[in-house]
Amino acid sequence: DAFLPVAFVIGYLLGSVPFGLVLTRLAGTQDLRSIGSGNIGATNVLRTGRKGLAAATLLLDALKGTAAVVISGYIAGPNAAMVAGLGAFLGHLFPVWLKFKGGKGVAVYIGILLGLFWPGAAVFCLLWLATAFTTRYSSLSALVAAFITPLFLWWFGHLALASLFAVLTLLLFYMHRENIKRLQAGKEGRIGEKT
Ligand code: G3P
Repeated sequence: DAFLPVAFVIGYLLGSVPFGLVLTRLAGTQDLRSIGSGNIGATNVLRTGRKGLAAATLLLDALKGTAAVVISGYIAGPNAAMVAGLGAFLGHLFPVWLKFKGGKGVAVYIGILLGLFWPGAAVFCLLWLATAFTTRYSSLSALVAAFITPLFLWWFGHLALASLFAVLTLLLFYMHRENIKRLQAGKEGRIGEKT
């Protein structure tokens, strides 16, 4: 399929827009890179104290994944949609504009899932919320939700999607390696905690 590489590039370019950095720079907050975890995602935007900006980052980082999937799927079908999803995830994690140092992939994972199979996104969000309410760890909530999501897709009979999201989950765990060390050491910051 000749469109697949194009779908990948569309996904990568959309995914590589770092909304957390863009919004906090427009709003003139502290530099995300110098506070909290140093990450460019919504969790770290929340550490600037700007809840609205954090919500907007979550929404836009998610929707860029949805847009990549929906646009490519509309043009060339389900395989192109999945390739665009992979591109969007890699674009967010490794954006060429930021010397390949991007985010950890949680919001964009949800957005890609929303575009490909919305019940999967609903399950991810429920698992995230359930873990967050009980532990108040953003990272742990993402790790729990991302661990279970591919199993849910597989159980639902979506084998191609389950394989794609198993790959995205492995990448997401890799991006959270410092968070995992902090969780093990009991040093991870909780949601709403000052850093
Ligand atoms: O979205 C990433 C989240 O799971 C952890 O973010 O800033 O606490 O490393 P952070």
